[in-house]
Amino acid sequence: MQYLNRFSLMKPDYVPESAWLTHGPFAFWIVSELKPRRIVELGSHHGYSFFAFCQAVREMGLKSECYAVDTWQGDEHAGFYGEDVYQAVKQHSQQEYPEIATLLRKTFAEARADIEDGSVDLLHVDGRHLYEDVKEDFETWIPKLAENAVVLFHDTEVRERDFGVWKYWAELEEKYPSFNFHHGHGLGVLGVGQDFPPAVRDLFAAAKSPEDAELIRATYNILGHAISDQREHMALAERVRKSPRGNYAREYAEFTAHIQRLQAEFAQERAKLTAELEQARQELERQRGRAQSALAEEIADHQLLKNATPAVDAVVADLIDARSHPFRNMQRWLSFKVLRFLASKNPPFSARAAARFARSASKRDPRQTYGLDATIAETENTGSRKTR
Ligand SMILES: C[S@@+](CC[C@H](N)C(=O)[O-])C[C@H]1O[C@@H](n2cnc3c(N)ncnc32)[C@H](O)[C@@H]1O
Repeated sequence: MQYLNRFSLMKPDYVPESAWLTHGPFAFWIVSELKPRRIVELGSHHGYSFFAFCQAVREMGLKSECYAVDTWQGDEHAGFYGEDVYQAVKQHSQQEYPEIATLLRKTFAEARADIEDGSVDLLHVDGRHLYEDVKEDFETWIPKLAENAVVLFHDTEVRERDFGVWKYWAELEEKYPSFNFHHGHGLGVLGVGQDFPPAVRDLFAAAKSPEDAELIRATYNILGHAISDQREHMALAERVRKSPRGNYAREYAEFTAHIQRLQAEFAQERAKLTAELEQARQELERQRGRAQSALAEEIADHQLLKNATPAVDAVVADLIDARSHPFRNMQRWLSFKVLRFLASKNPPFSARAAARFARSASKRDPRQTYGLDATIAETENTGSRKTR
């Protein structure tokens, strides 16, 4: 547990944008164990790693001097940026660490004149990341290192673009005691000297034990990601906070208006469809009525035909009979005529006698015989109904 102490668990109080975020816990630990009298950082940008060192110095009550060297203009790897970056770093430095921090706004080469030889216990190399850059930055600053110094190299695990720290780190590992973290783009810890505090010595020793090395890497990986996750959450909360509420209100109003337009269109469409449906229903009703009338007429005609058939059959039969017995039929017809005539003679005949003549006449009435009375009457009625 030498590789972990209560400073490893500290929360950085300055967390700007940085690719170094997950190394905050190790920065606290190494300062707490090494107790450096002078810390120099080559490449500070927004100042995350630099202020982590400063915070550790303050929390431990050390008398360390912390130097940040940077042109604060940027480079091909970090990108070039504006004056506001330096102003923000300067303000935080003056406000929080006036006794601890010094900003050297110059090139790494120029800054060498500001730092005494053999005075730097902790050096952090994080400038441009070409192989030649890192090699030059380290080698030109070796004279500035104290007898037993620790040098940190960022981006030892980046193999994309023209980054070359990994390559130079492979050479350094051969010559110096070291430990390499794999998370957060890689952070190499190099011991330049012979005599280190026990915890730092153990860290270098752990590099040779895969199991120990893995445990240390995993621990600082988890601790480090707690910081980067927190920054992500804070950045998200800030974005939401800064979002102009007006935009939401306008979007909401537009959305509401759109919904209302859709509702109006829907109501219009529904009314149109309902009217069309009603028209279709009425037309159907009319057609049904017409079909029913036509059917009723068909049925009536059919009935008429059915009723007339026996009468027609009887007439045909009588015609056949009349042809066969002309005299008998004539006699019957004459009887009918005579009886009807007699039935109409009241007086001189009594009403009773006239009624008897009428009954006898009706028995001989050829129309009654064929049932033509009813058929004729019905035909007349139907005819008049049809023409109505
Ligand atoms: C990767 S950034 C540093 C990131 C920083 N350590 C952090 O915690 O986020 C590299 C910085 O080094 C600076 N830089 C690169 N080469 C330099 C040089 N030769 N002299 C001075 N500054 C340099 C750039 O201006 C840039 O701000």
